[in-house]
Amino acid sequence: MITNTELEYKGNLYPNDIIDFRRDAEKLYFTTSNGVVLEVSILRDSAFRFRYATENIFEPDFSYAISESASIGYNKLEVEETVTEYLIITAKLKILVDKRTLRIQISDLKGAIINEDELGFHWEENYQFGGNTVKMSKITQNAESFYGMGDKATHSNLKGKRVNNWVTDQYAFGKDQDPLYKAIPFYIGLHNNSAYGIFFDNTFRTQFDFAHERRNVTSFWADGGEMNYYFFYGPKIAEVVNSYTDLTGTPELPPMWTLGFHQSKWSYYPENRVLEIAKKFRDLRIPCDGIYLDIDYMEGFRCFTWNKEYFPDPKKMVQDLRNDGFKTIAIIDPGIKIDKDYWVYQEAKDNDYFCKRGDGPAMRGKVWPGECNFPDFTNPEVREWWAGLYKELIAEIGIKGVWNDMNEPAVMEVPTKTFPLDVRHDYDGHPCSHRKAHNVYGTQMARATYEGVKKFSFPKRPFVITRAAYSGAQRFTSTWTGDNVATWEHLWIANVQIQRMCISGMSFVGSDIGGFAEQPSGELFARWIQLGVFHPFCRVHSSGDHGDQEPWSFDDEVTDIVRSYIELRYQLLPYLYTMFYRYTKENVPMIKPLVHFDQEDHQTHFRTDEFIFGEQILVCPVQEPNAQGRRMYIPRGTWYNYWTDEVLLGGMEKWVVARLDKIPLFIKEGAMIPKYPVQQYVGEIEVEELIMEVYYKNGVERSSVYEDGQDGYDYKKGRYSLRNYKLTGRENELIIQQYKGGSYISSYETIKLNFHGLPFTISTIEVDHVQVSLKEVQLKGNSSIVLDKGFSNLHISGF
Ligand code: GLC
Repeated sequence: MITNTELEYKGNLYPNDIIDFRRDAEKLYFTTSNGVVLEVSILRDSAFRFRYATENIFEPDFSYAISESASIGYNKLEVEETVTEYLIITAKLKILVDKRTLRIQISDLKGAIINEDELGFHWEENYQFGGNTVKMSKITQNAESFYGMGDKATHSNLKGKRVNNWVTDQYAFGKDQDPLYKAIPFYIGLHNNSAYGIFFDNTFRTQFDFAHERRNVTSFWADGGEMNYYFFYGPKIAEVVNSYTDLTGTPELPPMWTLGFHQSKWSYYPENRVLEIAKKFRDLRIPCDGIYLDIDYMEGFRCFTWNKEYFPDPKKMVQDLRNDGFKTIAIIDPGIKIDKDYWVYQEAKDNDYFCKRGDGPAMRGKVWPGECNFPDFTNPEVREWWAGLYKELIAEIGIKGVWNDMNEPAVMEVPTKTFPLDVRHDYDGHPCSHRKAHNVYGTQMARATYEGVKKFSFPKRPFVITRAAYSGAQRFTSTWTGDNVATWEHLWIANVQIQRMCISGMSFVGSDIGGFAEQPSGELFARWIQLGVFHPFCRVHSSGDHGDQEPWSFDDEVTDIVRSYIELRYQLLPYLYTMFYRYTKENVPMIKPLVHFDQEDHQTHFRTDEFIFGEQILVCPVQEPNAQGRRMYIPRGTWYNYWTDEVLLGGMEKWVVARLDKIPLFIKEGAMIPKYPVQQYVGEIEVEELIMEVYYKNGVERSSVYEDGQDGYDYKKGRYSLRNYKLTGRENELIIQQYKGGSYISSYETIKLNFHGLPFTISTIEVDHVQVSLKEVQLKGNSSIVLDKGFSNLHISGF
């Protein structure tokens, strides 16, 4: 352990004693005698930012991650000084800054320590590149667990692991392999039933050590840039995730069709093949909304061109697909083929839009089209140009979504798989090398794509999907987990990755269902579909090298199973859409690991398989062959088995039967789950009746249903419909109150309530305090009633 008199220890440099303190509104500055400045910004009573400068001076403040609409404002900020420390006090927390070492300690108002520096900030000068390697070490608290960090394909609890963030094209990655396609330097710490989060907003390669090297130390560091991190206090994980998501932003609502089923392959061509696949979906009555064109639609893999031999009339093909309810999504990669007769190349070259090497020549690298140059998407002018390139694809041909791939950026046949580090980037007017811009390159590409697709789709909503991402990418784009493999282990990985991404701010995410590389068995495919329909983004994609991977590519039993789950997804569209609404509006992750659902139950701290879909559906995939069921943990509370309506008490592990056609699925008691009828694609039919599956509870539970025009922006002007429900059950009665907000008028006039688990036989029904005859509400058996959609109070009682 160093003392304050030693400024250098094991090659590291440390701050020493504070000689100056200054406050400027919500910013507090502490300066040490060896020129370290700590800037503490109070964003909210429980959200702070810590920045450290080493030679008395901060770099210009700029971040791609932070959302313009992040909320700020606190209730209280006081600073006290004692002989040994400064004490910063907000309405929720206390930050102690040690005068001799600049170390900090954060505690709640009762004095319970939430997070404290071990060595705190320290650094090492980087002689090769200039600047510093900036480091932070914290004390790992007793029994502390760690979560988050984006797409890491490892156990959900990161305790004992070391991970690093360097966006990488990791074809056929394995369990525990790191780094992968995303860089999301955000983690959640949980100890003593209280949680906090740290977001290290530094785009250089960052490393995180969660008590791996030393069992009581958690540390993070970066190859350059600033020690610049945000701290969020819970005490609930939900609140931490909410704060991080608020800071880095959420997307606008996507068009509802994007929540339908998507079919992809590398590649469907020629045109006839695409149409044939689409037709087969309709013939077999398997719902589908999205169909993908992978790189072979282009002329020699040149972006924004068409191979006229395979696709003689793309506009007509896209229109034909459209007439049958399909939306076409096309891939666009960043590499622009070096070809003087190719207009995109010429435009970029003439305007000086390509990334350059340190000494001036354009960055060259091999990707699908051969030797390419790469636009510098960190230049705002380049982004604008890039956005404009989508005019033909979107406005003229009618493509509905764009898939950005290889944007890590991936380069073939070089050991680093990416650009050399000397490549220069504009970084929105803060010129830098690839060391700093690498992790954000893909996000800036997706952002430019989003601007273009949005502009040319307007007044409809855009759809973009990206492979590479840095924190904040969720504002512009959805994502998938990259090139996985058709193995049972990868089914496990997909499950963990999607949960992790959701609590890392990026909910609109899915995996290549069935696996990208290699060929799944029918059984694996069926099990993966059963999981995939419960992921926010639901797409089958495969490399196509090993045969077909469509719902009908296996045997009839598998086709039937796959159809039934895709149908279930379409029935659950209003539920999914409501999840998405809550994500965009309230920063609530669409999928929640069990620890997010109930952190006080320590059983949840090490669970990986079970998750909550939305607010009230518990899902647990079967992850091995020949299973007749599985053991799983049912979290605390009372749950209905979705398939049997059997009621189960949680808080323990249970064996759950799940033959090939079943995935363990449970509904929280009291939940009201909305459903639409099955459609072959979103908007195929006008919904004539909203179905609500009502799961009786002795007690109170709230549910909601969000709806709007399913596309377009009218919802922003109040044309949405939000139905909030309060269910109150007692021994012999059930009361359902409905509160409706927004001015959107839904297509249906009635709502059908299907009751599950009613413990009594209905004798009287009052709607809005008027007794109605049982016949009038079309009571079917003892289990369903149909009401006018405008009801505000339903009171049923029985014996
Ligand atoms: C990459 C993508 C994959 C795509 C392929 C061809 O491997 O991850 O999804 O099919 O490139 O474009």
